[in-house]
Amino acid sequence: MPSAHVPVLAGEAIDLLGPRPGEVAVDCTFGGGGHARLLADRVGPQGTVVAVDRDPAAAQRFAAFAQEATSRTRFVRAAFVEALETLRDEGLRADLVLMDLGMSSMQVDTRARGFSYSYDAPLDMRMDPGQELSARTIVNGWDERRLGRLFRELGEERHAARIARGIARARAAGEIETTGELVDVVAAAVPAPARFAGGHPAKRVFQAIRIAVNDELGQLDAALPLAWALLRERGRFAGISFHSLEDRRVKRFLVGRARGCICPPDLPVCACGREPEAELLGRRAVAPTPGEIASNPRARPARLRAARKLREAP
Ligand SMILES: C[S@@+](CC[C@H](N)C(=O)[O-])C[C@H]1O[C@@H](n2cnc3c(N)ncnc32)[C@H](O)[C@@H]1O
Repeated sequence: MPSAHVPVLAGEAIDLLGPRPGEVAVDCTFGGGGHARLLADRVGPQGTVVAVDRDPAAAQRFAAFAQEATSRTRFVRAAFVEALETLRDEGLRADLVLMDLGMSSMQVDTRARGFSYSYDAPLDMRMDPGQELSARTIVNGWDERRLGRLFRELGEERHAARIARGIARARAAGEIETTGELVDVVAAAVPAPARFAGGHPAKRVFQAIRIAVNDELGQLDAALPLAWALLRERGRFAGISFHSLEDRRVKRFLVGRARGCICPPDLPVCACGREPEAELLGRRAVAPTPGEIASNPRARPARLRAARKLREAP
Protein backbone atom coordinates (compact mmCIF):
# COMPACT_ATOMS: atom_id res chain seq x y z
CA MET A 1 0.00 0.00 0.00
CA PRO A 2 1.41 3.40 -0.83
CA SER A 3 2.01 5.44 2.32
CA ALA A 4 0.36 8.85 2.74
CA HIS A 5 2.53 11.78 1.79
CA VAL A 6 3.85 13.83 4.69
CA PRO A 7 4.41 17.35 3.35
CA VAL A 8 8.04 18.36 3.81
CA LEU A 9 8.98 21.71 5.42
CA ALA A 10 5.26 22.45 5.43
CA GLY A 11 5.16 24.95 8.30
CA GLU A 12 8.24 26.75 6.99
CA ALA A 13 6.88 26.93 3.42
CA ILE A 14 3.52 28.27 4.61
CA ASP A 15 5.25 30.84 6.83
CA LEU A 16 7.34 32.12 3.93
CA LEU A 17 4.51 32.07 1.40
CA GLY A 18 2.17 33.78 3.89
CA PRO A 19 -1.13 32.83 2.16
CA ARG A 20 -3.99 35.26 2.86
CA PRO A 21 -7.75 34.87 2.48
CA GLY A 22 -8.90 35.32 -1.09
CA GLU A 23 -5.50 34.71 -2.72
CA VAL A 24 -4.76 32.48 -5.71
CA ALA A 25 -2.18 29.77 -5.02
CA VAL A 26 -0.62 27.53 -7.66
CA ASP A 27 0.78 24.27 -6.27
CA CYS A 28 2.86 22.97 -9.17
CA THR A 29 3.49 19.63 -7.44
CA PHE A 30 0.19 18.42 -5.96
CA GLY A 31 1.40 14.86 -5.16
CA GLY A 32 -0.66 13.73 -2.17
CA GLY A 33 -2.02 17.24 -1.62
CA GLY A 34 -0.32 17.80 1.75
CA HIS A 35 0.86 21.33 0.96
CA ALA A 36 -2.26 22.06 -1.12
CA ARG A 37 -4.47 21.35 1.91
CA LEU A 38 -2.60 23.87 4.02
CA LEU A 39 -2.80 26.45 1.23
CA ALA A 40 -6.55 25.84 0.81
CA ASP A 41 -7.13 26.34 4.54
CA ARG A 42 -5.33 29.68 4.43
CA VAL A 43 -6.75 31.17 1.23
CA GLY A 44 -10.25 30.08 2.32
CA PRO A 45 -13.56 30.09 0.44
CA GLN A 46 -12.80 33.27 -1.52
CA GLY A 47 -9.37 31.95 -2.54
CA THR A 48 -8.32 29.36 -5.13
CA VAL A 49 -5.80 26.54 -5.16
CA VAL A 50 -4.72 25.53 -8.65
CA ALA A 51 -3.04 22.14 -8.40
CA VAL A 52 -0.69 20.80 -11.06
CA ASP A 53 0.75 17.30 -11.41
CA ARG A 54 1.60 15.09 -14.35
CA ASP A 55 0.87 11.87 -12.51
CA PRO A 56 -2.64 10.45 -13.07
CA ALA A 57 -2.49 8.99 -9.53
CA ALA A 58 -2.28 12.58 -8.24
CA ALA A 59 -5.38 13.41 -10.28
CA GLN A 60 -7.27 10.72 -8.37
CA ARG A 61 -6.13 12.10 -5.03
CA PHE A 62 -7.10 15.59 -6.15
CA ALA A 63 -10.73 14.47 -6.52
CA ALA A 64 -10.86 13.64 -2.79
CA PHE A 65 -9.03 16.88 -1.93
CA ALA A 66 -11.45 18.99 -3.98
CA GLN A 67 -14.43 17.53 -2.11
CA GLU A 68 -13.05 18.53 1.27
CA ALA A 69 -11.10 21.68 0.45
CA THR A 70 -12.22 24.92 2.01
CA SER A 71 -11.11 26.96 -1.04
CA ARG A 72 -12.03 26.86 -4.70
CA THR A 73 -9.91 24.27 -6.47
CA ARG A 74 -8.80 23.29 -9.90
CA PHE A 75 -6.50 20.58 -11.26
CA VAL A 76 -4.25 20.72 -14.31
CA ARG A 77 -2.78 17.35 -15.23
CA ALA A 78 0.35 18.22 -17.16
CA ALA A 79 4.07 18.72 -16.73
CA PHE A 80 5.12 22.08 -15.25
CA VAL A 81 5.95 23.77 -18.49
CA GLU A 82 2.75 22.87 -20.29
CA ALA A 83 0.63 23.61 -17.21
CA LEU A 84 2.21 26.99 -16.53
CA GLU A 85 1.97 27.99 -20.19
CA THR A 86 -1.72 27.07 -20.15
CA LEU A 87 -2.34 29.16 -17.03
CA ARG A 88 -0.39 32.08 -18.52
CA ASP A 89 -2.33 31.89 -21.79
CA GLU A 90 -5.58 32.01 -19.80
CA GLY A 91 -4.34 35.20 -18.13
CA LEU A 92 -4.24 33.73 -14.61
CA ARG A 93 -2.33 35.84 -12.06
CA ALA A 94 -1.14 34.09 -8.93
CA ASP A 95 -0.33 35.37 -5.45
CA LEU A 96 1.62 32.25 -4.53
CA VAL A 97 3.48 29.56 -6.41
CA LEU A 98 4.90 26.45 -4.74
CA MET A 99 7.18 23.79 -6.23
CA ASP A 100 7.94 20.79 -4.02
CA LEU A 101 10.27 19.03 -6.41
CA GLY A 102 11.12 15.41 -7.09
CA MET A 103 9.01 12.32 -6.54
CA SER A 104 6.28 11.76 -3.98
CA SER A 105 6.21 9.08 -1.29
CA MET A 106 3.28 7.52 -3.14
CA GLN A 107 5.38 7.18 -6.27
CA VAL A 108 8.34 5.61 -4.42
CA ASP A 109 6.12 3.30 -2.40
CA THR A 110 3.97 2.10 -5.30
CA ARG A 111 6.27 -0.81 -6.01
CA ALA A 112 5.12 -1.51 -9.54
CA ARG A 113 6.27 1.93 -10.71
CA GLY A 114 9.93 1.01 -10.35
CA PHE A 115 11.14 4.18 -8.57
CA SER A 116 12.70 2.32 -5.67
CA TYR A 117 15.87 0.26 -5.43
CA SER A 118 14.30 -1.46 -2.41
CA TYR A 119 11.66 -3.45 -4.31
CA ASP A 120 11.97 -5.60 -7.42
CA ALA A 121 9.73 -4.20 -10.14
CA PRO A 122 9.79 -3.50 -13.88
CA LEU A 123 12.22 -0.68 -14.77
CA ASP A 124 9.87 2.26 -15.28
CA MET A 125 10.18 5.47 -13.13
CA ARG A 126 7.82 7.57 -15.29
CA MET A 127 5.85 10.17 -13.34
CA ASP A 128 3.53 10.32 -16.33
CA PRO A 129 2.95 6.72 -17.44
CA GLY A 130 1.74 8.06 -20.79
CA GLN A 131 5.19 9.23 -21.87
CA GLU A 132 7.37 6.99 -23.98
CA LEU A 133 10.80 7.26 -22.33
CA SER A 134 11.16 4.92 -19.35
CA ALA A 135 14.04 3.65 -17.22
CA ARG A 136 14.07 0.49 -19.29
CA THR A 137 14.79 2.45 -22.47
CA ILE A 138 17.67 4.30 -20.83
CA VAL A 139 19.24 1.28 -19.14
CA ASN A 140 19.04 -0.90 -22.25
CA GLY A 141 19.21 1.69 -25.02
CA TRP A 142 21.77 4.34 -24.07
CA ASP A 143 25.38 3.57 -24.98
CA GLU A 144 27.97 3.03 -22.28
CA ARG A 145 29.51 6.52 -22.52
CA ARG A 146 26.16 8.24 -22.29
CA LEU A 147 25.23 6.13 -19.27
CA GLY A 148 28.56 6.98 -17.61
CA ARG A 149 27.95 10.69 -18.17
CA LEU A 150 24.40 10.36 -16.83
CA PHE A 151 25.50 8.68 -13.60
CA ARG A 152 28.31 11.22 -13.11
CA GLU A 153 26.33 14.36 -13.90
CA LEU A 154 22.88 13.60 -12.52
CA GLY A 155 23.85 11.06 -9.86
CA GLU A 156 27.19 12.59 -8.81
CA GLU A 157 28.31 8.93 -8.76
CA ARG A 158 32.06 8.33 -8.28
CA HIS A 159 31.99 4.92 -9.94
CA ALA A 160 29.95 6.06 -12.93
CA ALA A 161 32.22 4.58 -15.62
CA ARG A 162 32.51 1.18 -13.90
CA ILE A 163 28.74 0.97 -13.44
CA ALA A 164 28.11 1.92 -17.07
CA ARG A 165 30.57 -0.79 -18.17
CA GLY A 166 28.85 -3.29 -15.87
CA ILE A 167 25.47 -2.49 -17.41
CA ALA A 168 26.82 -2.74 -20.97
CA ARG A 169 28.28 -6.20 -20.18
CA ALA A 170 25.20 -7.46 -18.39
CA ARG A 171 22.77 -6.44 -21.11
CA ALA A 172 24.86 -8.13 -23.79
CA ALA A 173 23.36 -11.35 -22.36
CA GLY A 174 19.79 -10.01 -22.54
CA GLU A 175 17.83 -6.91 -21.51
CA ILE A 176 17.93 -5.73 -17.91
CA GLU A 177 14.24 -5.76 -17.11
CA THR A 178 13.79 -5.08 -13.41
CA THR A 179 15.02 -2.78 -10.67
CA GLY A 180 16.35 -5.85 -8.82
CA GLU A 181 18.48 -6.88 -11.80
CA LEU A 182 19.82 -3.32 -12.09
CA VAL A 183 20.67 -3.19 -8.37
CA ASP A 184 22.61 -6.47 -8.71
CA VAL A 185 24.56 -5.14 -11.72
CA VAL A 186 25.40 -1.88 -9.91
CA ALA A 187 26.43 -3.67 -6.71
CA ALA A 188 28.70 -6.02 -8.67
CA ALA A 189 30.29 -3.12 -10.58
CA VAL A 190 31.32 -0.93 -7.64
CA PRO A 191 34.39 -1.75 -5.55
CA ALA A 192 33.51 -3.81 -2.44
CA PRO A 193 34.03 -1.00 0.14
CA ALA A 194 31.64 1.28 -1.81
CA ARG A 195 28.97 -1.43 -1.57
CA PHE A 196 28.78 -0.95 2.18
CA ALA A 197 29.54 2.77 2.60
CA GLY A 198 27.61 5.92 1.70
CA GLY A 199 24.10 4.45 1.64
CA HIS A 200 22.63 2.01 -0.86
CA PRO A 201 25.08 1.39 -3.74
CA ALA A 202 22.37 1.98 -6.36
CA LYS A 203 20.96 5.14 -4.80
CA ARG A 204 22.77 7.62 -7.04
CA VAL A 205 22.22 5.56 -10.19
CA PHE A 206 18.48 5.42 -9.51
CA GLN A 207 18.41 9.17 -8.87
CA ALA A 208 20.20 9.87 -12.16
CA ILE A 209 17.92 7.61 -14.20
CA ARG A 210 14.78 9.06 -12.60
CA ILE A 211 15.87 12.64 -13.28
CA ALA A 212 16.59 11.75 -16.91
CA VAL A 213 13.38 9.76 -17.46
CA ASN A 214 11.30 12.70 -16.23
CA ASP A 215 13.55 15.45 -17.64
CA GLU A 216 13.37 16.97 -14.18
CA LEU A 217 16.10 19.57 -14.61
CA GLY A 218 14.94 20.64 -18.08
CA GLN A 219 11.42 21.05 -16.70
CA LEU A 220 12.69 23.06 -13.73
CA ASP A 221 14.83 25.40 -15.84
CA ALA A 222 11.92 26.17 -18.15
CA ALA A 223 9.32 26.32 -15.38
CA LEU A 224 11.03 28.78 -13.04
CA PRO A 225 10.63 31.83 -15.32
CA LEU A 226 7.07 30.77 -16.23
CA ALA A 227 6.13 30.43 -12.57
CA TRP A 228 7.73 33.79 -11.77
CA ALA A 229 5.89 35.51 -14.62
CA LEU A 230 2.58 34.17 -13.32
CA LEU A 231 3.05 36.00 -10.00
CA ARG A 232 1.46 39.38 -9.42
CA GLU A 233 3.48 42.13 -7.79
CA ARG A 234 3.96 41.23 -4.09
CA GLY A 235 3.38 37.55 -5.03
CA ARG A 236 5.53 34.88 -3.35
CA PHE A 237 7.37 31.88 -4.75
CA ALA A 238 8.70 28.92 -2.75
CA GLY A 239 10.75 25.98 -4.05
CA ILE A 240 11.67 22.83 -2.11
CA SER A 241 14.58 20.86 -3.58
CA PHE A 242 15.88 17.43 -2.70
CA HIS A 243 19.36 17.48 -4.21
CA SER A 244 21.99 20.05 -5.03
CA LEU A 245 21.30 20.00 -8.80
CA GLU A 246 17.79 21.32 -8.13
CA ASP A 247 18.68 23.62 -5.27
CA ARG A 248 21.45 25.28 -7.29
CA ARG A 249 18.96 26.09 -10.05
CA VAL A 250 16.34 27.51 -7.70
CA LYS A 251 19.01 29.55 -5.89
CA ARG A 252 20.56 30.91 -9.08
CA PHE A 253 17.14 31.87 -10.44
CA LEU A 254 15.98 33.70 -7.30
CA VAL A 255 19.33 35.38 -6.60
CA GLY A 256 19.36 36.57 -10.23
CA ARG A 257 15.92 38.18 -9.76
CA ALA A 258 17.01 39.80 -6.50
CA ARG A 259 20.07 41.45 -8.08
CA GLY A 260 19.91 45.20 -8.67
CA CYS A 261 22.59 47.27 -10.39
CA ILE A 262 25.03 45.20 -12.44
CA CYS A 263 27.35 48.05 -13.44
CA PRO A 264 31.11 47.48 -13.04
CA PRO A 265 32.19 48.57 -9.53
CA ASP A 266 34.48 51.31 -10.86
CA LEU A 267 31.59 53.20 -12.51
CA PRO A 268 30.85 56.29 -10.36
CA VAL A 269 27.08 56.23 -11.02
CA CYS A 270 24.77 53.46 -12.10
CA ALA A 271 24.30 53.32 -15.84
CA CYS A 272 22.29 50.09 -16.08
CA GLY A 273 19.31 51.35 -14.08
CA ARG A 274 18.48 47.80 -13.14
CA GLU A 275 16.30 47.36 -10.08
CA PRO A 276 15.79 44.09 -8.18
CA GLU A 277 12.65 42.23 -9.23
CA ALA A 278 12.67 40.06 -6.12
CA GLU A 279 13.29 40.20 -2.42
CA LEU A 280 14.72 36.96 -1.04
CA LEU A 281 12.70 35.67 1.90
CA GLY A 282 15.38 34.42 4.26
CA ARG A 283 19.12 34.75 3.69
CA ARG A 284 19.78 31.05 3.25
CA ALA A 285 17.96 27.90 2.32
CA VAL A 286 15.74 26.50 5.08
CA ALA A 287 16.53 22.91 6.11
CA PRO A 288 14.27 20.53 8.07
CA THR A 289 14.64 20.45 11.84
CA PRO A 290 16.11 17.35 13.52
CA GLY A 291 12.57 16.64 14.75
CA GLU A 292 11.15 16.60 11.21
CA ILE A 293 14.02 14.38 10.01
CA ALA A 294 13.42 11.98 12.92
CA SER A 295 9.73 11.62 12.06
CA ASN A 296 10.22 11.69 8.27
CA PRO A 297 13.75 10.64 7.25
CA ARG A 298 12.94 11.38 3.58
CA ALA A 299 12.89 15.07 4.49
CA ARG A 300 16.61 15.08 5.34
CA PRO A 301 18.00 16.52 2.07
CA ALA A 302 15.15 19.06 1.58
CA ARG A 303 16.05 22.74 1.14
CA LEU A 304 13.47 25.52 0.87
CA ARG A 305 14.08 28.86 -0.85
CA ALA A 306 11.55 31.62 -1.30
CA ALA A 307 11.25 35.11 -2.71
CA ARG A 308 8.70 37.90 -3.06
CA LYS A 309 8.15 39.62 -6.39
CA LEU A 310 8.74 43.34 -6.09
CA ARG A 311 7.94 44.41 -9.61
CA GLU A 312 7.32 43.04 -13.09
CA ALA A 313 10.39 42.59 -15.27
CA PRO A 314 10.85 45.58 -17.60
C1 LIG B 1 7.49 15.74 -3.80
S1 LIG B 1 5.99 15.42 -4.59
C2 LIG B 1 4.91 16.68 -3.99
C3 LIG B 1 4.19 16.31 -2.75
C4 LIG B 1 3.16 17.34 -2.31
N1 LIG B 1 3.73 18.63 -2.06
C5 LIG B 1 2.38 16.87 -1.10
O1 LIG B 1 2.36 17.58 -0.09
O2 LIG B 1 1.80 15.78 -1.15
C6 LIG B 1 6.23 15.96 -6.23
C7 LIG B 1 5.05 15.77 -7.14
O3 LIG B 1 5.26 16.61 -8.26
C8 LIG B 1 5.04 15.93 -9.44
N2 LIG B 1 5.98 16.47 -10.42
C9 LIG B 1 7.34 16.45 -10.36
N3 LIG B 1 7.87 17.05 -11.42
C10 LIG B 1 6.82 17.48 -12.17
C11 LIG B 1 6.72 18.20 -13.40
N4 LIG B 1 7.81 18.58 -14.08
N5 LIG B 1 5.50 18.48 -13.87
C12 LIG B 1 4.38 18.12 -13.18
N6 LIG B 1 4.41 17.43 -12.03
C13 LIG B 1 5.62 17.12 -11.53
C14 LIG B 1 5.29 14.48 -9.15
O4 LIG B 1 4.48 13.66 -10.00
C15 LIG B 1 4.89 14.36 -7.69
O5 LIG B 1 3.55 13.95 -7.55
